[in-house]
Amino acid sequence: MGNKKFYITTPIYYVNDNPHIGHAYTSLACDVIARFKRLDGFDVLFLTGTDEHGQKVQTAAKKAGVSPIEFTDKFSKNFEDLTKIMNFSNSNFIRTTNLIHHENVQKLWKVIYDNGHITLGNYSGWYSVRDETFYSEDELINGIAPTGAPVEWVEEPSYFFNLSKWQDKLLKFYEDNPTFVLPFSRMNEIKSFVSSGLKDLSISRTTFDWGVKVPGDENHIVYVWLDALTNYISALGWNSNNVDFENYWPSDLHMVGKDILRFHAVYWPAFLMAANLPLPKKVFAHGWWTNEGKKISKSLGNVIDPIEIVEKYGLDQTRYFLLREVPFGRDGDFSNFSMIQRINSDLSNDLGNLCQRTLSLIFKNFDGKIPDYPQNLTNDDNKIINFSDTLLEKLRIKIDNQELHLVIQLIWELISEANKYIDGQAPWSLANKNKDRMGEILAIMTEVIRNIAIFLQPIIPESANKILNQLKIPNNERTFNFSCGKYRLSKNITIEKPYPVFPRYFET
Ligand code: MSP
Repeated sequence: MGNKKFYITTPIYYVNDNPHIGHAYTSLACDVIARFKRLDGFDVLFLTGTDEHGQKVQTAAKKAGVSPIEFTDKFSKNFEDLTKIMNFSNSNFIRTTNLIHHENVQKLWKVIYDNGHITLGNYSGWYSVRDETFYSEDELINGIAPTGAPVEWVEEPSYFFNLSKWQDKLLKFYEDNPTFVLPFSRMNEIKSFVSSGLKDLSISRTTFDWGVKVPGDENHIVYVWLDALTNYISALGWNSNNVDFENYWPSDLHMVGKDILRFHAVYWPAFLMAANLPLPKKVFAHGWWTNEGKKISKSLGNVIDPIEIVEKYGLDQTRYFLLREVPFGRDGDFSNFSMIQRINSDLSNDLGNLCQRTLSLIFKNFDGKIPDYPQNLTNDDNKIINFSDTLLEKLRIKIDNQELHLVIQLIWELISEANKYIDGQAPWSLANKNKDRMGEILAIMTEVIRNIAIFLQPIIPESANKILNQLKIPNNERTFNFSCGKYRLSKNITIEKPYPVFPRYFET
């Protein structure tokens, strides 16, 4: 395939517990971008998976009274099941317990070691198992990690990566690639973190054994973050010179939550530079969800289970809400009230009614046959058609800046214009007076709805396809190539009795 390649990744998720809304959110954002790019003609590789090693997972397995691998098999499966429940279109699901991944981690270690960037020493300092992160004394706030996680004092032999030597190269890289980290405020945070001086990084542990062994020194386990970050290249078969690595690396986008940006925007590029490998093109850090105004935490018992939300409100309703409610990149609050508002107002009223009333008028007044697209357009027709035909260019820009909420906003502007157009034209009043004009208006409306549904596929795939099915659009005519006036609705389409795509939500 000669198509342009696009490689997008989610973080790989810790399997110490079941997936929650935060995990679903990171992957959902990637899914929307991956689907958009595919529809826009890109050859997309979308990777997700599970991060299964480290002290946190080992401790959780012990607590559950099972072996680490039994434990991780079970929880990894839950994350894999979630990809299906949420209708994620990932091309691959990587597990760090795979042998191939182990081999890649060991190879990366060896390359960095052979290049002279790893030395043996002793670590003494603070470690947070919950964050799987080393903290210096001055980072702690009242004796706990800045994330609120407990820390423990650790003293052990450790290999160190010479991170301090990469400070200038990293700063130069950020200077040369100003959109390497988005949003820009996060880029500034990373720059000031690196400018304030980097310490060498402990990259092996000896006090537990659940992980990848350091090549040549089996008492040491590779630090779980070096292990986990390697997934982005091991999934491409870097170790075995697989053509996927050549085709897809460097990645176009690593999507992460704000809490794990430092690992992706500082440590990962430094490891890659030390191994003489190309660096990712972009890391985007999204914000965090709270639940009805409160921080989500297990101890508060307010963790949101994405499966429950999907069962209660519907899959596309949930996907829509998560992406529409919060400017992507900022923190957001989950509330049942806003969810119901969004379903009833945006989905049911604005989008649902637009489709339902247009198709019903065609069904009742034209025996279901969609009237032909008119030869001559009025000013009003031209206005709405131009809006629709010029939307794709705007959407592309928003997707490439990861402004996912603005993608939705733009599509809803078109929906709102379309609703105004149909209200203004009042085709229902023309049934007896001017059936030809009524047909023209409905043809224009159908054409706009066809475009809207094509553009909605990345966000609410099932529902968008229901609309396209009702319009009898063949499956191979649903890509962006078939939108925006390059193509118009075919002639001689007869629809069935229309059904509403988004029923209103009533609290039971
Ligand atoms: N295993 C590491 C990532 C390794 S990537 C090489 C990890 N896993 S995690 O399971 O703890 O978190 C994965 C993602 O979930 C992160 O992007 C994190 O930001 C996101 N979220 C966890 N809680 C969240 C919210 N409450 N809200 C939004 N996203 C949050 O970190």
